[in-house]
Amino acid sequence: MAELDLLGRLPRSRRNIAARATAKTPELVERAMRFEFDYFDGSRDYGYGGYRYDGRWVPVAQDIVAHYGLRAGQRVLDVGCAKGFLVKDLMAACPGLDVVGLDISHYALSHAEPEARGRLVRGSCDLLPFADSVFDLVIGLDVIHNLDRAGVVRALKEFERVGRGPSYIRVDSYHTPEQRAVFVDWVLTARFHDYPQGWEAVFAEAGFRGDWTWTVIAA
Ligand SMILES: C[S@@+](CC[C@H](N)C(=O)[O-])C[C@H]1O[C@@H](n2cnc3c(N)ncnc32)[C@H](O)[C@@H]1O
Repeated sequence: MAELDLLGRLPRSRRNIAARATAKTPELVERAMRFEFDYFDGSRDYGYGGYRYDGRWVPVAQDIVAHYGLRAGQRVLDVGCAKGFLVKDLMAACPGLDVVGLDISHYALSHAEPEARGRLVRGSCDLLPFADSVFDLVIGLDVIHNLDRAGVVRALKEFERVGRGPSYIRVDSYHTPEQRAVFVDWVLTARFHDYPQGWEAVFAEAGFRGDWTWTVIAA
């Protein structure tokens, strides 16, 4: 297991931290955490402010396929797949790869990319509806931190259970008190976030053997 940045070719998100901190109310957070229209396609105050396919995951999919040496016939699970953008792009990057997505959001799954439909299932990352050892790679980008710490441990154990190869996750972190303050102003849905040492303790507790990278919010 290693810290590994396979997302370096994603464009940087634009974030108005001050506006978010001002707009954020308990009611707004509660609506965002339903992961329905508001979170994906409502105003930026609630989440993405419009979650549309624009091809940004294409180079990431290519880098994931290359790094893990994925081949036709192998099985990949994208946990927290949303509208299936990465599912679609992984299949394009490696024809014959069998990619499945899982997400809790009925809204996202019912507005998924046509190429991903039929491959997406609804469920929670801490109770995966799959048999043991059936995926050659399990991916979970910006998803498990939507649970509390105990839920994160359960989710990582689930990644280990359904996988028979590596896993790759991205989770919310910060390296300094200043970065943490920016993160807390910005965050809407993450219930568990920590410094790298805190995450590493969680990885150890869960027996997680996968690779990871951090989402660190820049001021
Ligand atoms: C920040 S988005 C990340 C989407 C995608 N992985 C990406 O990186 O663009 C978080 C996603 O996790 C989903 N989600 C939230 N809680 C979840 C849970 N307990 N189990 C599975 N998916 C969940 C949301 O519906 C949403 O699609």
